[in-house]
Amino acid sequence: MNKQTIRDIQWQGKRALVRVDFNVPLDKTGVIGDDTRIRAALPTIRYLLENGASVVLMSHLGRPKKKVVEELRLRPVAERLFELLPEATEVRKTEVTTGAAAEAAVADLKPGQVLLLENTRFDPREESNDPKMAQELAKLGDVYVNDAFGTAHRAHASTEGVAQHLPAVAGFLMEAELNALYGALNDPQRPFVTIIGGAKISDKIKVIENLLSRVNALLIGGGMANTFLLAQGYNLGDSLIEPDSVDVARSLIEKAKAANVNLMLPTDAVIADAFSADAQTQTVAVDAVSAGWRVLDIGPATVAAYSAVIKDAKTVIWNGPMGVFEMEPFAVGTRAVAQALADASAQGAVTVIGGGDSVAAVEQAGLSDKMSHISTGGGASLELLEGRELPGVVALNDK
Ligand code: 3PG
Repeated sequence: MNKQTIRDIQWQGKRALVRVDFNVPLDKTGVIGDDTRIRAALPTIRYLLENGASVVLMSHLGRPKKKVVEELRLRPVAERLFELLPEATEVRKTEVTTGAAAEAAVADLKPGQVLLLENTRFDPREESNDPKMAQELAKLGDVYVNDAFGTAHRAHASTEGVAQHLPAVAGFLMEAELNALYGALNDPQRPFVTIIGGAKISDKIKVIENLLSRVNALLIGGGMANTFLLAQGYNLGDSLIEPDSVDVARSLIEKAKAANVNLMLPTDAVIADAFSADAQTQTVAVDAVSAGWRVLDIGPATVAAYSAVIKDAKTVIWNGPMGVFEMEPFAVGTRAVAQALADASAQGAVTVIGGGDSVAAVEQAGLSDKMSHISTGGGASLELLEGRELPGVVALNDK
């Protein structure tokens, strides 16, 4: 990574203004469903405290649409942070993001203390990256730290604008994410295999295009595989397909051939007579999907073929499930791919899980600790894999 990090700063007596991504799932009663993102920021916060800084944290939560939404206040996050960080002298919470009250709270802060500002997206100026808001935020710290990889694809006041006004460095989570994802993408040990799944091909076209010049094999699964199969002339019954993307699928298959990439498609599938966990199911070859039936998972022959390729890989990136893994009868293919990645890891391969549903699938399979890296950013990792620059990263000081 060619950006400065928190290791490049002398922290004693300084205030660190840290953008984290505490956009965690909350249920209706305000209970946090998954605190992974809060835990993932702890090494950075701890390092800053241990090195004599005080820490001012800022994050968005949800999409409040430029106004205060009571259910999206960060109070439950502050409480969880306090439980997870007992060594912090105090974890305080403000009801504001910027302005006089925030400045007063920050001025009060002693080394070893942590303050969490209110949801940055309550301020209508955050998402438009208003320079005035960026300046107001910059008053709250001596050095800006961006540890919010999950929001690095957004050019907002707290992710990009503020970095123009303070020394700006990456936190440990940001550094780990960039090293893992760019490392795999730009300097892979070969064979380099990527597995791309998920419902829609239209969401992944740019990712596939970017990967075709880099990988040795590209394994396609999930609903998006249907459109590729349709492009090859198969009849997919009542399966989800994207008719507008058939030409794109055909051209990606051609590009893969030209680039000598082994683009693999399912050869068999688990099909169902309804989109439901209690539907009737069958396992059939992809040329035997009748009307009234839909593909909801890859079949055992595909699992075997994909697993064999994954097990020989030295670098693997996975983004998107192989089937409707939220429903037990259609989770087998996704789980098997997770297991193949775990086995590849055990053989020394670098295995990177690129955010979103594939992370949930790996967790569901109980294999999270077997992977080299699990990204905390769904949208951010997707944009990185598309080859796009992330504004929150670009804005940081170069080494
Ligand atoms: C995420 O959850 O992907 C990030 O926190 C970004 O959230 P957003 O898609 O609402 O910008």
